[in-house]
Amino acid sequence: MKKILILCLAAVSVAGARAQKTHGRIPVYKDASRPVEERVGDLLSRMTLEEKVMQLNQYTLGRNDNANNMADPVNDIPAETGSLIYYGSSPELRNRVQRKAVEESRLGIPILFGHDVIHGFRTTYPISLAQACSWNPALVEKAAGVAAQEARMSGVDWTFSPMIDVARDPRWGRVAEGYGEDPYANAVFGAATVKGYQGDDLSDDRHVAACLKHFAGYGASEAGRDYVYTEISRQTLWDTYLPPYEAGIKAGAATVMSSFNDISGTPGSANRYLMTEVLKERWGHDGFVVSDWGAIQQLRSQGVAADKKEAAEKAFAAGLEMDMMNRCYDAHLAELVREGRVSQAQLDDAVRRVLRVKFRLGLFEKPYTPESTEKERFLLPESLRIAEELAAESMVLLKNENDVLPLKGLRRIAVVGPIAKSRYHLLGSWSSKGDAEDVVSVFAGLEAEYGDKAELLYAQGCNFDGEDASGFGEAVAAASAADIVVLCLGEKRDWSGENASRSSIALPEIQERLARELAKTGKPIVLVLSSGRPLELCRLEPLSAAIVQMWQPGLRGGGPLAGILAGRINPSGRLAMTFPYSTGQIPIYYNHRQSARTHQGKYQDIPSTPLYGFGHGLSYTTFEYGDLKPSAVTFRRGDKVSVEIAVTNTGKMDGAETVHWFVSDPVCTISRPVRELKHFEKQPIRCGETHLFRFEIDPERDLSFTDGDGRRFLEPGDYYVIVKDRKVKLTLTE
Ligand code: BGC
Repeated sequence: MKKILILCLAAVSVAGARAQKTHGRIPVYKDASRPVEERVGDLLSRMTLEEKVMQLNQYTLGRNDNANNMADPVNDIPAETGSLIYYGSSPELRNRVQRKAVEESRLGIPILFGHDVIHGFRTTYPISLAQACSWNPALVEKAAGVAAQEARMSGVDWTFSPMIDVARDPRWGRVAEGYGEDPYANAVFGAATVKGYQGDDLSDDRHVAACLKHFAGYGASEAGRDYVYTEISRQTLWDTYLPPYEAGIKAGAATVMSSFNDISGTPGSANRYLMTEVLKERWGHDGFVVSDWGAIQQLRSQGVAADKKEAAEKAFAAGLEMDMMNRCYDAHLAELVREGRVSQAQLDDAVRRVLRVKFRLGLFEKPYTPESTEKERFLLPESLRIAEELAAESMVLLKNENDVLPLKGLRRIAVVGPIAKSRYHLLGSWSSKGDAEDVVSVFAGLEAEYGDKAELLYAQGCNFDGEDASGFGEAVAAASAADIVVLCLGEKRDWSGENASRSSIALPEIQERLARELAKTGKPIVLVLSSGRPLELCRLEPLSAAIVQMWQPGLRGGGPLAGILAGRINPSGRLAMTFPYSTGQIPIYYNHRQSARTHQGKYQDIPSTPLYGFGHGLSYTTFEYGDLKPSAVTFRRGDKVSVEIAVTNTGKMDGAETVHWFVSDPVCTISRPVRELKHFEKQPIRCGETHLFRFEIDPERDLSFTDGDGRRFLEPGDYYVIVKDRKVKLTLTE
């Protein structure tokens, strides 16, 4: 670090005088009335080589509480630093360090403060996978808006979110962080989240810059192991992994993070095809790419760079502009430029991208975060209301045999299991400044819901794992004395997220044993599950009369869960990721390609279909679907077609229904998946009422596909539009 400081100081003295000579006029880059590009150009023309390089580095500030990313704290942060990962939760520390940059560095370039705001800052929302199950992007956008506001008011300008890695292996702990197995769902929720974070104007004090991550294909990790190799053909990149990124860029995402994984021989962080050809040249992204933590230096471990200098050269040449805690760019980039291995033009382009984001965030005008009290920025009533609503819409009723739910007219309810009173584990991974003290547990939710209408008999029964069955007796006694058992099982918070893969997605044996013991009482079991991934339920399902997947709902899970159990809330969540029958089926996802023999190739020992498929989720009411009605059955290129379907709430309770619109192309030059989601819509429908759902098809957008180099093509022939078990054929004549 000392070396960097000396370099910086030398740079200051050499070029110092020139920058200050403005002949009494305010320099263009400081003039807010000038267009951003002019300001960037002016500032760049004043910068020394070392100052430019320093803009491309990110260190940490504050107490790092991320166990996966520990490193020596950078104590003496150079005033010329480009960015810091900010672990503080108030503006104070930020402002102190920012003051150094703005007032003590030669050019006064403000630092960009980033942080992992993943599913909320202090008001913790459900994990992203749960959010996708709400199928309510407008609500997800609102939650992202609250997260942005809390973060910006606390000193954060930039979040490393959304994660839009399509993920089909629930052993991978990071499935919790994305929006499930479907490219389109990741695209829609990713774009909604970007809009929520960034709003219309990044400089307005309430919004933060977004970062699409991890570019790309990280979710394809072999066997769900983290950080490992991924085998992804170009065709699969374009079909599966890139569409969410394209949508995120279209939504205006300011930045992108490179991925850890090696993609068929070229790691994401040295991947010129992705970071330069696709992202910048084709999609026209003018923000910057930040490396994932240590991802540049890890190019050595991945076997494509001999040392840090070569790693810096490869990453930079590939189009990676900012070094997150690698210490590769600060040590070697200037040298690489002097040696002619990195051109001035390339360096300028990289710095220009970083500066552009800083100008857009208004950091030159407002480098400091206004002081505010926690009460003014956190846990505001409207923020909590959104948390409650999103948790309610995310929960999925997986099973409800003989309408055992909602629970009505019961005198005694046994509430059992390690999740029942847990608050900490409901927060989920990456819960930022979320505090377990603010979490409403399942038990607290049930107490508030039932008051003195029913007696709650609590027993923990067992821990999350281990062998200790000493609590079984108490749990069985509670169950025996009750009319029904609400059995709350699941995962600890750190069983999912980064570096948290599991070889099996079953719950630990001790939890299954507890369920078996309780089942022996003959009392119906309502299984409530909290987890960061789909679970293996093939043994628990037969023991349960009803199953509610509550995910990791954040601060406000207990209330909505109790509301669902009691029937105050009609569940409307639908799965955004398949629940396999058992771990051995993985990978299993709805949009697989077609088999050569559909009548054969089944497993001999287990079913070949998942336990709960993509889109599954029950309601307390019934929805009757009419026929699919197309506006035309043949069409020509350039035409627009629409298909409608009427859905009637024929049950006794108001509810909300999500219609998923799929497309299939059974015969295509490049074979297509059996079905592909192209559109969805969620609507509240009162009992007795009908809603007309409509899919406006733009053939160039919805019926075309990309080849292995991302070129779109639309072939004449038959297409099917599918909703549930209904389908209608549309023919493109030419
Ligand atoms: C994770 C990223 C995260 C970064 C900074 C990395 O280990 O993969 O998702 O944004 O750390 O905390």
